[in-house]
Amino acid sequence: MFSDKVIIITGSTQGIGLKTAEMLAQRGARLVINSRSEQKVDVAVAKLRQITPHVVGLAGDVSDYASCIQLRNLALDSFGRIDILINNAGIASGGLIKEIVPEAYEKVVRINLLGSIHPTLACVEEICRQKGSILFIGSVAGIVGLPSYSAYSATKRALVGLAESLRSELSDDGVFVGINYPGFTENDEQKTMLNARGEEEVLRKRSGVKAVKQDKTAGQIIRQLEKRKFRMYSSFSALAIQWIYRFFPGLTLNILRHYRHKITSMQ
Ligand SMILES: NC(=O)c1ccc[n+]([C@@H]2O[C@H](COP(=O)([O-])OP(=O)(O)OC[C@H]3O[C@@H](n4cnc5c(N)ncnc54)[C@H](OP(=O)(O)O)[C@@H]3O)[C@@H](O)[C@H]2O)c1
Repeated sequence: MFSDKVIIITGSTQGIGLKTAEMLAQRGARLVINSRSEQKVDVAVAKLRQITPHVVGLAGDVSDYASCIQLRNLALDSFGRIDILINNAGIASGGLIKEIVPEAYEKVVRINLLGSIHPTLACVEEICRQKGSILFIGSVAGIVGLPSYSAYSATKRALVGLAESLRSELSDDGVFVGINYPGFTENDEQKTMLNARGEEEVLRKRSGVKAVKQDKTAGQIIRQLEKRKFRMYSSFSALAIQWIYRFFPGLTLNILRHYRHKITSMQ
């Protein structure tokens, strides 16, 4: 089903994005790789070219609309069409509301929210032409707001609203729109997180949380595209949180309040 499909994956030079790219390359897809760092794009493209020659990449910030137009143009110039857009680029962020500075909030909104809106705006016409797919990578933090992750939770929750709107709007065009909810997934050593001052710092290894393997999370992303299912979860705990919150929203919020110090110390 992915053979010769042209797929743009934003934020695909490490972590879940790169793992998804590897697995799609093995399935015969033509890939467009992206992240802000030119050096990381070069390394990822070289790695993926060991699987398939049909890989190109471009460094660019998805919070900048002009960069997304360049990414779309690269896909069209290289492969002639766009079938699938995976809006994966995102940044983890933490900080208590009493500490977090406005610039940190703005950065998270720009990357996590506008960084999914801009590639979508740039590619939507081409994707409609192919009756293709647009997938947003959300988070469990977008199911229910987590203490000390307010900026991250707010932006990931906003992606759900965005995906729901587009799902209805683009149904006449035959376009699949979905939202994926990864649970805590094993991260690369160089994964960064924004602190309350808006600075990117290398993420400490989380203790006390069982992380899902990257290939499981990437496998669920691929399964979701195959099945054209609106929501998909990469772990049982992510699914359980969704169901518990749906049926017992007050209880879920009370449990989170009870464990707020533990959750805050997990950053
Ligand atoms: N890992 C988890 O436990 C987990 C759980 C739930 C949801 N998620 C979501 O899954 C997605 C991937 O997570 P991950 O853990 O694989 O993250 P990651 O290891 O930090 O990788 C993020 C990727 O996005 C790129 N990126 C960041 N900001 C960008 C920007 N403004 N423009 C273009 N590229 C950008 C990064 O490269 P550069 O730094 O070079 O730009 C990198 O390639 C994110 O949306 C995240 O929120 C992850």
